[in-house]
Amino acid sequence: MNIQQLGLKPPLGWNSWNTFTWDINEQLIREAADTFVAEGYKDAGYEYIVIDDCWSLKERDTEGNLVADPEKFPSGMKALADYIHSKGLKFGMYSCVGTHTCAGYPGSFEHEFQDAALLAAWGVDLLKYDYCFKPRHISGELLYKRMSLALKNCGRDILFSACNWGEDNVYHWIRESGAHMYRSTEDIQDSWESIKKLTLSQLDKASTTGSYCHNDMDMLVVGMYGGSNSSFIGNQIGGCSDAEYKTHFSLWCMMGSPLMIGSDIRSANQVTKDILLNKDLLAINQDAESRGAYRIKPEPQWFHTDDVFMLVKVLADGDLAIGFFNLSDGQREISLQFWDVGLPYASGKSLSLYDCWEHKEIGVFKERYAPVVAAHDCLIVRAKLV
Ligand code: GAL
Repeated sequence: MNIQQLGLKPPLGWNSWNTFTWDINEQLIREAADTFVAEGYKDAGYEYIVIDDCWSLKERDTEGNLVADPEKFPSGMKALADYIHSKGLKFGMYSCVGTHTCAGYPGSFEHEFQDAALLAAWGVDLLKYDYCFKPRHISGELLYKRMSLALKNCGRDILFSACNWGEDNVYHWIRESGAHMYRSTEDIQDSWESIKKLTLSQLDKASTTGSYCHNDMDMLVVGMYGGSNSSFIGNQIGGCSDAEYKTHFSLWCMMGSPLMIGSDIRSANQVTKDILLNKDLLAINQDAESRGAYRIKPEPQWFHTDDVFMLVKVLADGDLAIGFFNLSDGQREISLQFWDVGLPYASGKSLSLYDCWEHKEIGVFKERYAPVVAAHDCLIVRAKLV
């Protein structure tokens, strides 16, 4: 791959953590890859199959190399990478800046160059790099730069996915570390409260995301319905409604987050597939210019809390993607005054609106558009100037 393409747009894929945590093996990973091809995810642009934490033995070998757990991965990582590549997909793995990963497996601290070489030899295409067990005397900035340098010199194009949960002012230094995406939030859980909390924490971060270094709001919980094997993610929470999953996906698309599916795609229901494979939403997320989405507060402002807002993302062809989000617990009319997107009545211009969930034209409007949006729901339109 041309290095200039790596990380140009938010990466799309699947990650084992949200649903399976420690309970992973090569059969599962192969089936995830098979599903990507068979169920249309690959055709829609999803590309990376990522193994998260818990893939290795608890000790390195006598040469200091990481060792894939032979019970979980009896054929080894090279064979698994080859299988994933044979499907036209890419293979992601996980390590950590510290001495150990969050689940207590060996981390890459002071093994950065050795580990990068091993990952390259296995055929890895993405490294997710976590933040647990970081020695206190060394800055995260230095450690992400050190692994980035190792990856850039390992002889293979490996997309670098930093994961320090938005801590230590990461917004100020991550772009120059060479990371292509970086976690800007704490861990997601399979609950509406978590989706809402992560979203509200990111509304002022539009200027910190863009091509080659995307602000990562964490993996998707769409379609999990409480089906994780870990209480950290949500097996005791019960999941979300379909409308909430739709709103979650819309927010992540509008805000330019990488989209890493976290549910068991092998058994996804039709609603989940319709959400994850929504081509109009994916086109907004994958827009060539990767601009951040800015927030507009609806009028009249006294009527709304921070839970009700619009997001606007300027697209490469000049269209505007506009999201009307109602995170509150009651139905709301959300009024967009076109002066807020630079089109007062006096401009003589109108907006032709297309509904990205219903996949149909809504109509042509002047000065104002004010849909009524149900609680926890949203409307996403693509607006063309006419
Ligand atoms: C967390 C990380 C999660 C997952 C987990 C694995 O720190 O944010 O996405 O990777 O570690 O232990």
